Amino acid sequence: MFNAEAFVAEAVEHVRSAVKGKAILAASGGVDSTVAAVLAGRALGVDLLAVYVDTGLMRKGETADVDRTLKEMGVNHRIVDARAEFFDALKGVEEPERKRVIIGNKFVEIFEREAKPSGATYLVQGTIAPDWIESGGALRDRIKSHHNVAGLPEVMNLTLVEPLRDLYKDEVRKVARVLGLRVSERQPFPGPALAVRCLGEVTEEKVDVVRGACAIVEEEIEAAAAAGTMTLPWQYFAVLLPIRSVGVHGDVRAYGWTVAVRAVESVDGMSARYSKIPQDVLERISSRITNEMPHVNRIVYDVTNKPPATIEWE
Ligand code: XMP
Repeated sequence: MFNAEAFVAEAVEHVRSAVKGKAILAASGGVDSTVAAVLAGRALGVDLLAVYVDTGLMRKGETADVDRTLKEMGVNHRIVDARAEFFDALKGVEEPERKRVIIGNKFVEIFEREAKPSGATYLVQGTIAPDWIESGGALRDRIKSHHNVAGLPEVMNLTLVEPLRDLYKDEVRKVARVLGLRVSERQPFPGPALAVRCLGEVTEEKVDVVRGACAIVEEEIEAAAAAGTMTLPWQYFAVLLPIRSVGVHGDVRAYGWTVAVRAVESVDGMSARYSKIPQDVLERISSRITNEMPHVNRIVYDVTNKPPATIEWE
């Protein structure tokens, strides 16, 4: 049985004895990197610098949330606005693996530029077990290039410290609860962020739409769960599809975008079943998205399990 209190003490000790100098960490706002930041912050104090890169691909309100959480937890950190650089790098790119690679490389470049002056020689990373197993661990084919700042340690000549490496998601959440982190119940979010929920070419306009749609899916599902109408799925979000379909706006023909809603039940993300969410919740999501996003005229619900699908669409 996993003991989160004992893990916290061990992990702080592990970081303290592994790091002989200064360390940096890439904070993403997710549970994993936030837990790693707090543990490393406890171990290292000002010898840890957490850097959060605002890629422009983050969820609604994410950057402000991360800033507040790290402040509350007393983690020494910096927020970097790199939105324009990411959209430039992604211009004209449609292929999912290329998108992932470009985002990973851009991230490494910016992180290196921002972090180098800190004089750190260690990189603390919130990698958890499914990340390295699915990124082409010895026994599996590569399914997706997971973006977990892979490449950073080599490029920057940093020694890697991964206090969460053996944990699965449910265990990281237990640790987050013990640490009193608000993000503990937060659903997982992919490293390449909304770029993989915006199928095909990523533009600022499309990301705005999918960001708004994801926020609506979250709000409606969380409200229904709070009201006891349904249980909270493991993960729930929206995807903007690269197709358009014919609809009608007032009396006028519209040729608009399609949003897919995805909600799944899972334990660790390795396999998943689609959530059977109530029809009236789906209907509220559908009317809100089509009312609030003028370019979207069709909403579909994804009823595929993993396998054969993956949870994200890219
Ligand atoms: P898939 O789509 O592979 O996703 O079934 C499994 C879980 O992982 C999340 N995901 C990622 N997490 N870096 C991450 O840390 C990534 O590049 C990445 N891509 C997908 C996904 O949201 C789901 O929870």
